[in-house]
Amino acid sequence: MKNTYSRIVVFLMTCIVMLSAGTIYAQQLTIDQRVDSVLKLMTLDEKIGQLNQYSGFEEATGPVTEEADKPEQLRKGMIGSMLNVTGAVKTRQAQEMALQSRLKIPLLFGQDVIHGYRTIFPIPLAEAASWDLEAIELSARVAATEASAAGVHWTFAPMVDISRDPRWGRVMEGAGEDPYLGSLVAAARVKGFQGNCLGNTDALMACGKHFAAYGAAVGGRDYNSVDMSLQQLHNVYLKPYKAAVDAGVATMMTSFNDINGIPATAHKYILRKVLRDKWNFQGFVLSDWGSVGEMINHGYSAGEADAAKAALLAGCDMDMESRCYIKNMKSLVLSGAISEDVIDESVRLILRKKFEMGLFDDPFRFCNEEREKQQWDNRAHRDIARNMARKSIVLLKNDKELLPLKENVKTIAMIGPLVKAVGENNGFWSYSWPDDSVRIVTQWQGILNRAGNQANLLYAKGCGITEPDSSGFKEAVEIAMKADVVIMSVGESANMSGEAKSRSNIQLPGVQEELIKAVYATGKPLVIIINAGRPLVFNWTADHAHAILYTWWLGTEAGNAIADVVFGDYNPSGKLPMSFPRSEGQIPVYYSYFNTGRPPKDENDLNYVSAYIDMPNSPRFPFGYGLSYTSFSISEPVLNTTNITAGEELIIKVTVSNTGNADGTETIQLYFRDKVGSLVRPVKQLAGFQQVFLRKGESRTLTFTLTEKDLRFYNENLEFVSEPGEFDVFVGNSPDNLKGKGFVLD
Ligand code: GLC
Repeated sequence: MKNTYSRIVVFLMTCIVMLSAGTIYAQQLTIDQRVDSVLKLMTLDEKIGQLNQYSGFEEATGPVTEEADKPEQLRKGMIGSMLNVTGAVKTRQAQEMALQSRLKIPLLFGQDVIHGYRTIFPIPLAEAASWDLEAIELSARVAATEASAAGVHWTFAPMVDISRDPRWGRVMEGAGEDPYLGSLVAAARVKGFQGNCLGNTDALMACGKHFAAYGAAVGGRDYNSVDMSLQQLHNVYLKPYKAAVDAGVATMMTSFNDINGIPATAHKYILRKVLRDKWNFQGFVLSDWGSVGEMINHGYSAGEADAAKAALLAGCDMDMESRCYIKNMKSLVLSGAISEDVIDESVRLILRKKFEMGLFDDPFRFCNEEREKQQWDNRAHRDIARNMARKSIVLLKNDKELLPLKENVKTIAMIGPLVKAVGENNGFWSYSWPDDSVRIVTQWQGILNRAGNQANLLYAKGCGITEPDSSGFKEAVEIAMKADVVIMSVGESANMSGEAKSRSNIQLPGVQEELIKAVYATGKPLVIIINAGRPLVFNWTADHAHAILYTWWLGTEAGNAIADVVFGDYNPSGKLPMSFPRSEGQIPVYYSYFNTGRPPKDENDLNYVSAYIDMPNSPRFPFGYGLSYTSFSISEPVLNTTNITAGEELIIKVTVSNTGNADGTETIQLYFRDKVGSLVRPVKQLAGFQQVFLRKGESRTLTFTLTEKDLRFYNENLEFVSEPGEFDVFVGNSPDNLKGKGFVLD
């Protein structure tokens, strides 16, 4: 008996030693060695399966193609990733099916976690209006914490498409018109989503999208063609994608549009020459939903096999939902049309991410129901969301300092179709949860929470968002007459912006501006809250309302954040990330335009100049604009020199003073102009900004630097160069309120 026991002990000890050696050995192998060890075992079918991504068993975020027997394909290892499968339970179930495959290669679960998951944050365009990069990074970090706890490995964000066309519904998803701001926001979001290290269980792989130049669709019509010079592509539109790559983004997603006639999903120049060769991108590239197969519609591919071949050879590693790869790739390899080496390279890139995420070590490490519960109602996340929302609000007008509302306001009338709206506050690309009716703070509830004890609140909807029915005007006017102040909440519906939501008319929809006119006629002080996923045109309202807050879509804490600003608990600090046109006819309108050979002398100059005869060239509200409850003075910039050469710094000092009656935050912006170039250069380019909080009466001197590198651009030969000559540098709090000095680059 004793011998048997000792033999068992020896055997167990041996196993433990071998196991630990194996684990140590595995850990000592590099990820690439581990990838290759798996790749060597894979059949061609299994390799192609890794390139195939399907949407989940329930919802879809694109046009659903024919149904596939997904559980069966999972068990055969024919699916490498799924999207729209969330929750610790459901991701575990799908993962268990995948682990029944021969090699048990784990799935990657992707999801559109664009601006929050359980706690919904302001839409990305709103967050960009905060110009607060730390807050933006924290917003993405919270989203990652909540989504990874729900079994998600990978978010299809940040969307970093520059756009200067508010007719395009997806402007809501990006950071606006400017490549400098857009690049900083892109990096902040990638860092926020991915956290300190891919593989931490609170990390999400991020995805820079939509590569590339999707926001320049002709006519602002979603999915439409993009046609621009390579200089414009490099000098403006590619910059935020590069910022995402430089920030270590794990994946990129191709865009639906063609670029100069070649669909982005098969665009070798951007996917291989730029992304991989020039930028040294090490992650993998995912198509957008069905975009491989859509190259047939584009008239670029004759059929699915051609589309699959063109996309893979161009550098698109994974096929989302078109099924072109899973259906055609094997025959393409067997016929010699595609080398298996090309397949192997894409599979390697995908397997590498699965190893980095720790999924080979533990495929269920993100499927933790306990952790999901912990993150489900995280109070701290709501406070972070409220703070982000407050910072995203832009004060466009405040005549006679109507805002913040004063203590003597005893009766407030709240009028408009969005006063009591619930889910609308979340905007597009968000999630609705069964408890939203009690979870989302409506604008009515927010004002009630803040002022319910001190003021009497009256309510009338007045009209719908789009309905041409003005029968509610009478009631609205009646309650306005009883009030000291009227707050109207108007705008779009949440699904009037976002994907496939282009609008040719970006006015306030329905009869809302007529309602505003009717209420305005009562003579009561009028505060307008505008909710939208894009810049809107609202000239009459802008001319007549006494105060205007642009609140975009602010998410779960919308009502509280709006109340914080309305009652002055937070002094608004937002600055527009996009120019607001006076009319659709002005689009595209943006601050960094070229001067042309016939710039108008002023807004009245129509004498053979580049101007409209029926309205000024300038936007209604410019990029970078936003008011405060206090006032700031900004000194003339002081330069350390008027000449710099490469390697030297131009140091610009400016003193900002809070000259008003409230503490507040100002965003001081730095622009420059290259006055003469081998290509014409914009009249202004943002090259720096600093946010400064000043108590009333406080002053602070800020220091900016510019170097020769900041002045570089892609020239006619696509060389990234600076050119000696005269420059102007400007400092201020909006492109329309700047003070400048000249300097020379020698
Ligand atoms: C959509 C969007 C893309 C999204 C994907 C998955 O069509 O264009 O941004 O990530 O499909 O939902």
